[in-house]
Amino acid sequence: MTDRAGAPRAPLGEELRIAATALERLAEGASLPAALEAAMRDPARASRPGAGPARDLGDLPPASRAAIRDIASRTVRAWGLCRALSERLNQRPPAPAMLALQQVVLAQLLDPVRPDATTVDQAVEAAKADPVLRHGAGFLNATLRRFLREREALVAAAQADPVARWNFPDWWIATLRAAYPDRWQAILEESNREPPLTLRVNVRRIPVGAWLERLAEAGITGTRVGPQAVRLEAAVPLERLPGWADGLVSVQDAGAQLAAPLLDVADGMRVLDACAAPGGKTTHLLELAALDLVALDPDESRLARVGENLARLGQAASLVAGDALRPGEWHDGRAFDRILVDAPCTASGIVRRQPDARWRRRRRDMATFSDRQAAMLGALWPLLAPGGKLLYSTCSVFPAEGDRVIARFMRSHPDALRLPLVWAFAPGEDREPVAQLLPTSGAGRDHDGFYYAMLGKPD
Ligand SMILES: C[S@@+](CC[C@H](N)C(=O)[O-])C[C@H]1O[C@@H](n2cnc3c(N)ncnc32)[C@H](O)[C@@H]1O
Repeated sequence: MTDRAGAPRAPLGEELRIAATALERLAEGASLPAALEAAMRDPARASRPGAGPARDLGDLPPASRAAIRDIASRTVRAWGLCRALSERLNQRPPAPAMLALQQVVLAQLLDPVRPDATTVDQAVEAAKADPVLRHGAGFLNATLRRFLREREALVAAAQADPVARWNFPDWWIATLRAAYPDRWQAILEESNREPPLTLRVNVRRIPVGAWLERLAEAGITGTRVGPQAVRLEAAVPLERLPGWADGLVSVQDAGAQLAAPLLDVADGMRVLDACAAPGGKTTHLLELAALDLVALDPDESRLARVGENLARLGQAASLVAGDALRPGEWHDGRAFDRILVDAPCTASGIVRRQPDARWRRRRRDMATFSDRQAAMLGALWPLLAPGGKLLYSTCSVFPAEGDRVIARFMRSHPDALRLPLVWAFAPGEDREPVAQLLPTSGAGRDHDGFYYAMLGKPD
């Protein structure tokens, strides 16, 4: 098979079935990228008990890999509704593999531009060809065709439940509703959209204007949305970007690009990037000044990605595999002029990019992250030189990981000053010491949700 552009494709039914395998793994707790990777590595599901001898599908064509990712992401973004629809359609729950396939197909049928009957036919054919799913092919056919007949009524009834209406867990909806009484619906709606692909131009190597000209010559449309930020009109393979291999650009959300300029670095400063991997902000800092920079992260495989990014951009930093909560294990005793604490969090602000996060997180995670974030600040504060600045950031929109962490830190550190945030470009002209950026607040919804707070140590 080929797609419209002539690229080879696996049959749609196979793509749906492989996406369903990924969804099944997600339901068991895997992350979406890990679940997709596993499902595409093992497309015949040879490893599943009872699947029988592996069918050799060969390597999946790239166009099918992209299609499977798209099918699975679409399902995850609509999973609340798909689950509610399954409950209405199924008299009793089918086996997990069949349930996953049914929900994957339902998610595609919710999209009015997808060809409905063909999708159902292909899914049923794929089920018939699969030893595990074969006996349920009639059930799949009957429930999906009922959905096509009664779609509007079934969707309307299911959406009476807010989890199905918004496709977020109830605690997530309640948290946003309490924090942003006038905007929670817009935030949820935006969180279900596809995110923009935004790049950071390496101004050490090329002015933004000159790179935009090269982009236009390559036939790609992009808009400048920050001092170094260019948002592409449509995603393209990164290798097609002018100067990608030579380090002229990196992928980084426009909100994330606010961090490094906020930190106000100058040549010769000693800087700690305390939660560095994969190095988006490390490399940005090094584009702004010649720094003696320590990039810390406890996850060795993620730290290796910092190394790869530094190498692509021709930069250097000290990579340290260590825990920000235990500086005694890695710190050499020399104070830092600047510290960036881009702390691990629920990732509630970047849920457009990680649509599965909402289903893997639990309400209690907010308190767990909040405690760890406050502990990190407390552990790193003694490492800051007098007169130094510490920027705390998270890619979260939950107050528990933003204002509340800073309020808690200020109560226990009376020496700390709250310094104004001086923006490189204006998410608002204010110079408050803390800021909660929402995915809805960018001019063209250009950025993800982030929290920033600047702390200073008196001389
Ligand atoms: C939000 S990500 C950082 C993103 C990175 N700053 C960037 O801009 O590319 C958080 C990072 O914190 C790391 N991390 C988790 N626990 C940590 C700890 N105890 N100490 C330091 N880093 C930690 C994670 O491995 C993860 O790479």
